[in-house]
Amino acid sequence: MNRFDEIIDRKKTKCYKWDYNKEIFGKENLISMWVADMDFQTPPKVLEILQKRVDHGIFGYTGLTESFYTSIINWMKDRFNWNIKKDWIVTTPGIVPAINFAIQTYTKKGEKILVQTPVYYPFFTSIENNDRKLVVSELKLIDNHYEMDFTDLDKKLSDNVKMMILCSPHNPVSRVWKLDELQKLSELCLKYNVLLISDEIHSDLILSGNKHIPIPTISKEISDYSLTMFAPSKTFNVAGLSLSYVIIPNRRIRAKFQSTLRSLGLHGGNVFGIEALEASYCFGHNWLEELLLYIEDNYTLVRQYLHNNIPQIKAIKMEGTYLLWLDCTKLGLSQKEIVSFFINKAGLALNDGAKFGKGGKGFMRMNLGCSRELIRQALKQLKLAVNNSL
Ligand SMILES: Cc1ncc(COP(=O)(O)O)c(C=O)c1O
Repeated sequence: MNRFDEIIDRKKTKCYKWDYNKEIFGKENLISMWVADMDFQTPPKVLEILQKRVDHGIFGYTGLTESFYTSIINWMKDRFNWNIKKDWIVTTPGIVPAINFAIQTYTKKGEKILVQTPVYYPFFTSIENNDRKLVVSELKLIDNHYEMDFTDLDKKLSDNVKMMILCSPHNPVSRVWKLDELQKLSELCLKYNVLLISDEIHSDLILSGNKHIPIPTISKEISDYSLTMFAPSKTFNVAGLSLSYVIIPNRRIRAKFQSTLRSLGLHGGNVFGIEALEASYCFGHNWLEELLLYIEDNYTLVRQYLHNNIPQIKAIKMEGTYLLWLDCTKLGLSQKEIVSFFINKAGLALNDGAKFGKGGKGFMRMNLGCSRELIRQALKQLKLAVNNSL
């Protein structure tokens, strides 16, 4: 049996994905395939190290050691052939907080920040909660995959935009951006003095045939005018441990970010986050390779099943992440009806595509980070619902 086939009950663990369906979807007993964490245990070696730490029984203030930094340096080298320096690494208690810190550090109220939609919706709230102005460039859906609209980007970035938040790989449309796309984008940001924030939280979750390229490796110029954000949280399913890090090669830009963290009294990280990061980066390589094969097989199963049995719903080509973007426009329903159909007819808790902003209507996001059996059950329920109600 594949280790990822095991079904582990997550209910009654204060689990956001499984324990809050009544509050969020208005109904219990749905199959939960929404918020971006997986139903898999973290790698055994990581569990063992955390367990040892629990057994120690003392959870006082915890610092960042040389071995912690080395694990990140080695991870970047092994996965992306990128040589980073220890000084460039700044830890944060999550990437969404880090995005908010960056907005507060480098922009003023009322200034413009650009994102490409449909996109991970906390980008919008981070901009709006800080009273900055949201500027949107919509991705183009071409041949079942999404592309950046460079004409639109050129026009909008030139109009006094101060910052851009890039999602790379892109949640929810599952693109792993290619070298030429990142080069063009970097050139535009540099041309118009737009500071580039690159959220690369999904950078380890790359399906075969694709390659993740960290934005600072594109050129010395963009390396000096960007902040790149990473975490082990998606990769090793440790999001609840709230530890991420930002890589900021430019000393002046880094000093400003660190000053914001100091002004908020933030330092170090929590003991389990620190232990889990180092353990996963040191011992998680093989587990990750197995995980990626499993996710890819889940994706193939869903894509083929939809194609053969539910042609009204189409899977957008998946290049990375474990999040599948479903084109439901052929169901012939309004967005409200699509959302209600998934909950009330199919018994599935997926993300409402409209939440991801312009271009999201007609779509739903499905989380494939779960056992194959659950996927099969979800597909069966979906087919039945389509047959019965449409
Ligand atoms: C693109 C992206 N950024 C950030 C996050 C959340 O990061 P954190 O939990 O570290 O705030 C997610 C989670 O789904 C995500 O998809």
